[in-house]
Amino acid sequence: MLKSKVLGAIAVLATVAAGATAVTVVAQDTVSQRKALMKAVGSATKTGSQMAKGEVPFDAAKAAEAMGTLATSWPAFVKLFPKGTETGGETTASPKVWESFKDFEDKGVSFVNAATAAQKAAANGADAFKAAFGEVGKSCGNCHQTYRIQKK
Ligand code: HEC
Repeated sequence: MLKSKVLGAIAVLATVAAGATAVTVVAQDTVSQRKALMKAVGSATKTGSQMAKGEVPFDAAKAAEAMGTLATSWPAFVKLFPKGTETGGETTASPKVWESFKDFEDKGVSFVNAATAAQKAAANGADAFKAAFGEVGKSCGNCHQTYRIQKK
């Protein structure tokens, strides 16, 4: 289900790229695509977090799938920051994304690495997953702190 959401967002992206008409429309669509991808990341992370906390029974396959959703979201997400999408569509992306794109990408790579490690750790049981998932959680904050506007 989560995977299909991510794929759906990518399909929408492809459509927009093929038929780009009004720039403002494209900009808004781009923002909604990056929000949709991050929403999928958010719900997959919730699945991981509930298992790490023992709120739901640990399920190695589901935990690995959720972490896979995180890792595969990034290559699509990072392409959704063209110039002209700094504002609009209720984006919470900080202007700093465009100012220090290389560092933004580096933080994304750390996030993918943490998610991939947790995906693998799931096969080694709940404790191994929990330890690896801690790093995933840190990687979200590590990027959001600088690159996402915190709305009150
Ligand atoms: C490398 C940077 C980066 C990483 C890593 C990252 N995010 Fe994000 N996230 C963003 C940016 C930028 C936005 C704002 C997107 C926009 O509004 O245009 C965002 C937005 C969000 C949103 C709001 C989506 C919406 O509906 O507007 C959620 C939820 C979210 N992130 C969850 C997570 C979680 C959970 C993780 C870690 C598992 C994570 N993010 C990791 C950069 C990142």
